[in-house]
Amino acid sequence: MSTITIHGREFVKSISNEEICAAVKEVADRINRDYAGKRPVLLGVLNGCFMFAAELMRNLEVECEISFVKLSSYQGTNSTGVIREVLGLSESITGRDVIIIEDIVDTGLTMQNMMETLGTREPASIEIASLFVKPARLQVPVNVKYSAFTIPDRFIVGFGLDYDGLGRNLPDIYDVVE
Ligand code: IMP
Repeated sequence: MSTITIHGREFVKSISNEEICAAVKEVADRINRDYAGKRPVLLGVLNGCFMFAAELMRNLEVECEISFVKLSSYQGTNSTGVIREVLGLSESITGRDVIIIEDIVDTGLTMQNMMETLGTREPASIEIASLFVKPARLQVPVNVKYSAFTIPDRFIVGFGLDYDGLGRNLPDIYDVVE
């Protein structure tokens, strides 16, 4: 079993890079089918989405655009529920088919906030693509149409996800050892 230590906490490898890429390809295939003939705009939520967004884009065959916003709601391993918009969206999304690209949906508060904020800009449609969803943690109803993995209530790092700033560069996913 492969373990690592980040900020003094132990993590154990749980999902390999190969498994992640295969699951992301399946998500991309669904998007390719669902958006055939359209030109969706992907809206990545930084920082955590960057690896998922890159892997997803690589597998998309539909004509598409990508843009990024930066929000922050997390410190350490507990959600603060505080949502800060650091970097706003400059492009118009009016009349566009928007796909939000998120690393992980935990309480769902970030995605609820994004849906409300973007909804006022009159897009043609908005869907969410998230690499991970933790259904047991959801505090608000959020419809994640495209998710690669449903995982239990456990803190994870790797493939773009961090533990207090570290671990984003790991190609595989690691679970915290409680
Ligand atoms: P939510 O608003 O509670 O759904 O929080 C979503 C955000 O919390 C994600 O975009 C991540 O930045 C962060 N997050 C939630 N769970 C984890 C985790 O297990 N590892 C790393 N970051 C997480």
